[in-house]
Amino acid sequence: MATAVATDSYAELKARTKAAGQQQVLEDWDALTPEEQAALASEVKDLDFGFIRSALTASLASAGAAGEGAKPVAGVVQLGAGGATDEERRGWRDLGLRLVAEGKVAVLLLAGGQGTRLGSKLPKGCYDIGLPSHKSLFQLQAERLLALQRLAAQAGGGQGKALQWFIMTSPFTHADTVAHFEAGGYFGLDKAQVTFFQQGFLPCMTEEGQIIMETSSKVAKAPDGNGGLYRALHVSGALAAMQAAGVEALDVYCVDNSLARLGDPEFVGCCYARGTQVGARVLAKAHPEEKVGVFAATPEGRLQVLEYSELDPAKASSIDPATGQLYFNWSNICMHYFSIDWLAATVKALSGPGAAYHIARKAIPSKGGSKTPGVKLEMFIFDPFATADKTTLFEVAREDHFGPVKNAPGSDTDSPDTARALLLAQGARWAAAAGAKVAQDSAGLEVPALVSYAGEGLEGLVGGLEVAAPGPWLLGADGRLDA
Ligand code: UTP
Repeated sequence: MATAVATDSYAELKARTKAAGQQQVLEDWDALTPEEQAALASEVKDLDFGFIRSALTASLASAGAAGEGAKPVAGVVQLGAGGATDEERRGWRDLGLRLVAEGKVAVLLLAGGQGTRLGSKLPKGCYDIGLPSHKSLFQLQAERLLALQRLAAQAGGGQGKALQWFIMTSPFTHADTVAHFEAGGYFGLDKAQVTFFQQGFLPCMTEEGQIIMETSSKVAKAPDGNGGLYRALHVSGALAAMQAAGVEALDVYCVDNSLARLGDPEFVGCCYARGTQVGARVLAKAHPEEKVGVFAATPEGRLQVLEYSELDPAKASSIDPATGQLYFNWSNICMHYFSIDWLAATVKALSGPGAAYHIARKAIPSKGGSKTPGVKLEMFIFDPFATADKTTLFEVAREDHFGPVKNAPGSDTDSPDTARALLLAQGARWAAAAGAKVAQDSAGLEVPALVSYAGEGLEGLVGGLEVAAPGPWLLGADGRLDA
């Protein structure tokens, strides 16, 4: 049971909130139970009023500037005719595998989001998208990481370091995420290679900077966005741990991509070979009206991401006659490469006062069941990309890299159903390419990552195999199919 807060520490809290012009935070103090007082005191102690005020001021000042004078990006590493050759791709893959084996690459998962659209009580990573194996997204990703580590060790003659996996959670997802890994025995990984760290949150405020109370004893808060990564890497010590371990590059991805080929050695090798500070895997836009963020250049030629709402429809659909492609053709799937040196400089710049966030104006649930008009501050992971001098945009095949899980089951787009279908279709394609006979109307095949990470090594296993309708099927390590 919590004990009452000592009078002297209450006096201190009162003085701090008064000096910051935030007295309203404690205004119901006398009506609270000792437990509520202790909870509120602990929340208030953690609030950095100076940082919060400067973040709001900087965010209000910078709002609305995105997209002005945006230009198309140049120099994308493309697939297909005239793009990267098979030989180049093999070279990048070999280099990527070597970097993994030497411990120079780590993988980072963004898993702090609340997943409101999906509507699941548990964090998105715990979600079962309905594959034959019923593995959660976290387990699918853990096994891909293990598979990549094994491939890298094989390529290194049997020698290779454990691939480090950093998982960013938030106060909303942390406990359930850790419990899921514990319950699953870390899905075959060594517990020591997995590091959880939490992103921060910021209080919701009125436009004038007054902190809003959700109840008399609780501050209204929201996670600081996936760009909260930068501050969290510093505060948690995760960046320092990477530097101490000799990591030179980080591969970053989102939890809600069923096809996330995490640590993709071809992408990582290409970025590393080019001395890249910020890299991104990109897709050619499916159609001009597709609601995705696109990469663009600022008027000064620096890299930026424009959200679809920031690009006017005429610009979004205009075609470059020289290439036959859309001017703004390259969509962002939030799969990034960062050099540790760029990351260290960026983390430093964004951890102090003056960091600007995006402002979302919302009705914030507040005391007495009311809603107060207020602002939430959120940073996006791509916000600091314009600071990078060396960037690489790397085209990947949509059907092999992008299976988003955003919306509730039954939705036509980006749902667990569409993500499952994409993964099963990928398995069927891999099997067909390796000599299996796949019936046209089969629902497809789940190929566990520990059987094949990216379609390799299947010839001996599935040559001549019948993948019949209806399915879907699960491929075993012995080449047998289970329904
Ligand atoms: P989204 O922006 O799609 O948000 O996250 P979400 O929380 O998953 O879903 P909605 O919008 O509430 O329905 C893209 C990626 O960024 C991570 C998510 O976990 C996901 O991997 N993210 C998002 C964070 O890590 N922290 C955040 O504060 C927000």
